[in-house]
Amino acid sequence: MKNQNRGSFQTSFGTMMAVTGSAVGLGNIWRFPFLAGQNGGGAFLVVYIALVILVGLPLVLGEFTIGRSTHKGVVGSFKELAPKTKWYGVGYLTLITGFTILGFYSVIAGWTGRFLVEAVQGNFNSQSAAAISASFKEFTNSGYLPILYSVGFIAFTGWIVARGVEKGIEKFNKILMPALVVLLVLLCINSATLGGFADGMSFLFKPDFSKINGGMVLDAMGQVFFTLSVGMGVMLTYSSYVTKEENMPRSKATVAIIDTSIAIISGIAIFPAVFTFGIAPTEGPQLVFIALPSVFAQMPFGAALAFLFFAMLLIAALTSAISIYEMIVAYCIEEFSISRLRAVIYLSISVAALSVLASVSQIEGSSLTILGLNVFDFLDTLSSNYLLIAGGLFVSIFVGWVFRKDRLYNTFTSHGKYAVWLFKPFVFIIRYIVPVGVSLIFLSKIGLI
Ligand code: PHE
Repeated sequence: MKNQNRGSFQTSFGTMMAVTGSAVGLGNIWRFPFLAGQNGGGAFLVVYIALVILVGLPLVLGEFTIGRSTHKGVVGSFKELAPKTKWYGVGYLTLITGFTILGFYSVIAGWTGRFLVEAVQGNFNSQSAAAISASFKEFTNSGYLPILYSVGFIAFTGWIVARGVEKGIEKFNKILMPALVVLLVLLCINSATLGGFADGMSFLFKPDFSKINGGMVLDAMGQVFFTLSVGMGVMLTYSSYVTKEENMPRSKATVAIIDTSIAIISGIAIFPAVFTFGIAPTEGPQLVFIALPSVFAQMPFGAALAFLFFAMLLIAALTSAISIYEMIVAYCIEEFSISRLRAVIYLSISVAALSVLASVSQIEGSSLTILGLNVFDFLDTLSSNYLLIAGGLFVSIFVGWVFRKDRLYNTFTSHGKYAVWLFKPFVFIIRYIVPVGVSLIFLSKIGLI
């Protein structure tokens, strides 16, 4: 039975766009390149792609089967499927993860907003990479400016989520994602004209397998979870809004392919620029924000393209942040019977508080650190490399071992209609490969094996 207070997606295309909108975001364009840069390029890409297929996609499907079969949120789903057990604790874990991610995601989205404004003012015109980097540092060190932008982003996200599922999310996703891809491809074409093109391409596509180690594989796995929005109940929540039957494995594989392609395309757009303008690939979270403006600075129509690019990146970030919001808000509405608006307001205030801490910790010389990392890096590492992975591990154990087989089968195949042949391999992977693989990677990183 569908709960009247819950929204639903009206069309398969709308669902597809919302799911893609959640997956495609700063993770593809900001996080992937900087992690690939820090982890040796090609080898990282190979491990990343392998993990998308072996771990990421099966988990997306796992989360989808849970939400689709219950039409409930992260806590309610587990309560329904495994009553009188503690499995609903996984739901609480995902709420914490979502909150943690929003804390730093909003900071990067704020940076994106700032660059959008700079692009409008034409501030990148014929600037050198060094000048762009210096003015970026000035911005992050100013303290209040990044806070202003990230709080603005949080307020805007809240406003959209408060308007509800159909009107809010579906509309935004439909139009803008394809436009973002077009722009990225344009940037790739421009990359081919840069002096560092060959170096950039070989950095990204020539794997040096000696770079593979426990830390790098964990980074790659964290990135897979992050970029596919998996391990924190977002896919679970979105799938609970799906009313139409669909070929779920096919549509989710499509999302994974789109998501991975966008990460690779942004790598092609960025690394040639990194080598052309003498930026260190290991620069970290600032990488994209220095490399791309340097490209726009010397491109014909650079200012206009920069404007379009940052506008779309901001929207991609927005659709991802909306999905995290939606997961937490859906839970609050269901659990506490409060209004959507109230849930959004409480959440926004809490996220803004965390985001201010993350933002201030980015000021050079800031003493806001936790376990030796500034708050921003701490939230990023904690959520991607630990919380998301723990969430994914629990989901795989749940779907593989606890979820009743007949119910799982009916949801996965839409009552025997689609992808029946894939059901057995799926169960095998989610039962054995995912939990064992995830545990091994994790244990090897923390030095236990
Ligand atoms: N997948 C989003 C991105 O790549 C971020 C995200 C993570 C969204 C987790 C929802 C849940 O930007």
